[in-house]
Amino acid sequence: MPSPQITPPKYLSQEEGLTQECKTLLSSLPRDKGWVANHLFQYQGFWHTARQLQGVLTCQQHFQANPDDLLLITTPKSGTTWLKAIAFAIVNRKLYSSSDDHPLLKANPHELVPFLELNLYIENKIPDLTSFASPRLFSTHLPYVSFPESVKQLGCKMVFLCRDPRDVFISAWHFTNKLRPQAIGTQSLEEAFDSFCRGVINYGPALDHILEYWKQSLERPEKVLFLKFEEMKAQPSVQLKRLAEFFGCPISEEEEKEGVVETILKLCSFDHLSNLDVNKTGKMATGEEHSAFFRRGEVGDWVNHLTPEMIEKFKQIIEEKLHGSGLKF
Ligand code: A3P
Repeated sequence: MPSPQITPPKYLSQEEGLTQECKTLLSSLPRDKGWVANHLFQYQGFWHTARQLQGVLTCQQHFQANPDDLLLITTPKSGTTWLKAIAFAIVNRKLYSSSDDHPLLKANPHELVPFLELNLYIENKIPDLTSFASPRLFSTHLPYVSFPESVKQLGCKMVFLCRDPRDVFISAWHFTNKLRPQAIGTQSLEEAFDSFCRGVINYGPALDHILEYWKQSLERPEKVLFLKFEEMKAQPSVQLKRLAEFFGCPISEEEEKEGVVETILKLCSFDHLSNLDVNKTGKMATGEEHSAFFRRGEVGDWVNHLTPEMIEKFKQIIEEKLHGSGLKF
């Protein structure tokens, strides 16, 4: 009997949905080995899979921002899922005051706050965004340099969540190994480390990605809020209130007395979200399992993985890149 045809998950497909324009561009770009997909391509200084690059191009050409759009931006594996959950819960808190019917109980945060280039504009799709209630919440891993012009011109508010690059690296290594097809097996930590240090990772170099937004947040603090995963873990209520204030919907004294902050934090906590059925068993439309977005959710797991040589190399890279920027890990 012939073996059944298995459709590979969409995140693995290289060619599906690519326009001729994208194919031509790809053939002219520097390429390197991918962590999951075969190749990464360097566009505007940052690395993308072919499929993702198509999303970037379509988004650049067709996304029309509204002045009150709120954009959640992260380097992959920096806590995007958590930020999406908290931001969604803050913005919609008047709609879902009773926690029994909260959309976060039935849907993964990535479904509630879609990625621009990875969901809405993927495969050269031009989505109809008229059903999005205002203010529209979108997320993206786009580097600042690659943002659609209208976002920059209108000065939309952006929240950038940053995480210690050592934890980003370890989280990305675990995550991509889960996504790799069995046939190619897991990637060794050493190989992944070499790629990461050369900046070759989805949306990398990670530190350049982070630095772009750090600088924007210093220049335009009223438009770009820079949050750190580590600070969210250490002082979740303080950071949640900062976020609500930045969004223009501050937590009132009355809400504070009612325990709104604690309710949102509990709803969005790692333990709560990762134990919901939807996140234990569901899958993204693109094929990734929801459970892959929840691993440990802690600070400093890198100490359990990196060798002394890797730690030293990381130290050098971080010092070199961040020198004079005022940003520290
Ligand atoms: P670890 O792999 O270190 O555990 P992203 O959402 O950007 O893909 O990032 C995934 C990382 O965020 C994973 O880190 C994951 O466990 C962690 N994470 C997911 N949900 C979280 C939550 N509610 N609170 C804290 N961390 C969370």
